[in-house]
Amino acid sequence: MTEAARALPARELTSLGRMRWSDVPAPVLDERLSSVLLENITARISVVDRRHCYLYANRETLDFLGRPASEVIGRHLSEVVGDAAYAGYRLLAERVFSGEALRLEGWVDYPGRGARYLRETFIPYGPGDGPIEVVAVFGRDYTDLKLREQELADKLAQLHTSEALKSAIVDHALAALITTDDTGRIVEFNPSAEAMFQRERSDVVGRAVSAVVMPERFRAMHEAGMRRMQAGGEARVLGKRMQLHALRADGAEFPIEMVLWRTDIGGEAFYTASMVDVTEAHDAAREIERQREALRQTEKLGAMGSLLAGVAHELNNPLAIVMGRASLLEEKCEHLPELRADAQRIREAAERCGRIVRTFLNMARSRPSQRGPVALNEMVRAAADMLQYGYRTHGIELELRLAEALPAVIADGDQIGQVVMNLLVNAQQALAGREGERRVRVQTGIEQRREDREPRVWLRVADNGPGVLPAARERVFEPFFTTKAEGMGTGLGLAVSRSLARDHGGDLSLEPRPAEGGASFRLSLPISGQAEAETIPAPLPEPGAPLQARVLVVDDEAELAELMRDMLEGAGYEVATAESGAVALEMLATARFDAIVSDLRMPDMDGAGLWREVTARHPLLARCMLFVTGDTLSPGAREFLRSARCASLDKPFSKADLLAKVAVMLD
Ligand SMILES: Nc1ncnc2c1ncn2[C@@H]1O[C@H](COP(=O)(O)OP(=O)(O)OP(=O)(O)O)[C@@H](O)[C@H]1O
Ligand SMILES: [Mg+2]
Repeated sequence: MTEAARALPARELTSLGRMRWSDVPAPVLDERLSSVLLENITARISVVDRRHCYLYANRETLDFLGRPASEVIGRHLSEVVGDAAYAGYRLLAERVFSGEALRLEGWVDYPGRGARYLRETFIPYGPGDGPIEVVAVFGRDYTDLKLREQELADKLAQLHTSEALKSAIVDHALAALITTDDTGRIVEFNPSAEAMFQRERSDVVGRAVSAVVMPERFRAMHEAGMRRMQAGGEARVLGKRMQLHALRADGAEFPIEMVLWRTDIGGEAFYTASMVDVTEAHDAAREIERQREALRQTEKLGAMGSLLAGVAHELNNPLAIVMGRASLLEEKCEHLPELRADAQRIREAAERCGRIVRTFLNMARSRPSQRGPVALNEMVRAAADMLQYGYRTHGIELELRLAEALPAVIADGDQIGQVVMNLLVNAQQALAGREGERRVRVQTGIEQRREDREPRVWLRVADNGPGVLPAARERVFEPFFTTKAEGMGTGLGLAVSRSLARDHGGDLSLEPRPAEGGASFRLSLPISGQAEAETIPAPLPEPGAPLQARVLVVDDEAELAELMRDMLEGAGYEVATAESGAVALEMLATARFDAIVSDLRMPDMDGAGLWREVTARHPLLARCMLFVTGDTLSPGAREFLRSARCASLDKPFSKADLLAKVAVMLD
């Protein structure tokens, strides 16, 4: 029994107007026939008198009541149908006996029969104008019909709910869903499919799916597959995850992952494909592979860097000796111009080696940023030396147009050197494929823009290569953006360079494409206030100035000590040498010195130890100590130089470097 039947809502009562049975025309059938009809009709017919007792009940009524005629005829209604059902009839009895025909319809609870849906019509009867004597009741039982109707309504409601849920899922699914019939015509195309393929559902329904979403080259294969399935062939692709290419309305192809399944409805087959766009996943996988490759490259460079740093460091001492001796020889050959020119060549070559070594060390060293006055032009020359071989073998002409007396900038020399190197390497690589003349021009200059507080120095590296495509102009500064072949570029050069430039308050930009073609990058750096006055090259004191100062040179490497002695003596200083810190202290105890030039790394007492002893015993002299350093400064040594506020000189050095430092110290 359904909910509705159990709840038993009030039955519906309809008035059929005033009428009485006696209004019906006289019977045309004889009595026997009438009673056969009454007994066999499939409706309940009964007659009730004014006392509410049964006068007549046909067989259908007796069957329904489940009693023989003897238990019904002459009995009171309440006795037969029960008090509950009788209460309903009693209420309307008065109206019917006063001459109103009524219809009552709805659920009613019958004793022993449960809830039944009945439609009953009550027709009053009385002869002529006399009072109503009896009421005829015609009843039909619609219980089964009503129950089935109710079941159907429930099923329909369930269907609606599930339909609504399913279309909510389809409409909001992230996956694109396309359903076709067995000929491949589209019958469903959800909103995600509209977004993915950039097509409207209304435009594609009814069209062949292959023509809508598939690149041309796959269509024939797809249609053959559909025909095979239609002919009852095996459906090899159903239920499998497949990677395919799909086609957007604008003609662009993109990768998708798809699962296809079949649904049979009413003997018809439908195919639904669920698809996701995997472009991003593909890109991400490619990007990860690139970054992994970049990391491998960086690691390789790092390992090579430390190896080279070791080699470079070992070269420093002999290089200092070659450079120094060559410059002394040059002075000694003042009157032998040919020999003097040879010595000069040796010195210049050694100086170039020195710059290369220093650049290597700068690149290989990883250390916290260290700022000091940096001569941009020097950076350019060092990078040019370093790359000279590569440029020459590639037939590239390198033109330097460096502004004279360019102010130094307060910057980290290693970092700025790295920026210059990156620009020059990029230019060289850009020219690799060029036919004909290959040219790179490096310019430096100084500018004062209205919006800046202080002047800025700038550097431009311009090549006559293919230039940068408009679409890539901003992207070239993105980390890992490269157009170079695997293993050729990591795409970090410009990204790192720009961030270094910006760390310095400057910038690195790609200039508008020059009229003559190629690419032109521009670095600009602000000059810090103190550095403004300083110009490069720094003015050197006159060599050989009659200083008459006494200098103690301390170095465990005799060759270097000798070299410094010769350089200083040549400039007019009085010089003594000591091969260790301990010997130096003994000499200081017995003789007067105005300055000390000492190696920093020595076996027994190192430079720092010597400085502490000198500070304790000869505090004034401690302020005039110059330390000659190798390039791979340990953090401890660097910290010592900073806190002791002592001057330092990097190996290899020229005679001019040494004299300038000593002169400044004694000043
Ligand atoms: N002088 C140039 N001419 C043309 N294109 C350039 C030039 N310099 C850089 N590019 C473009 O910018 C991209 C990024 O340069 P970047 O220096 O950041 O990386 P890379 O040279 O590819 O790799 P890496 O420097 O890490 O070895 C290059 O791949 C190239 O396409
Ligand atoms: Mg590069």
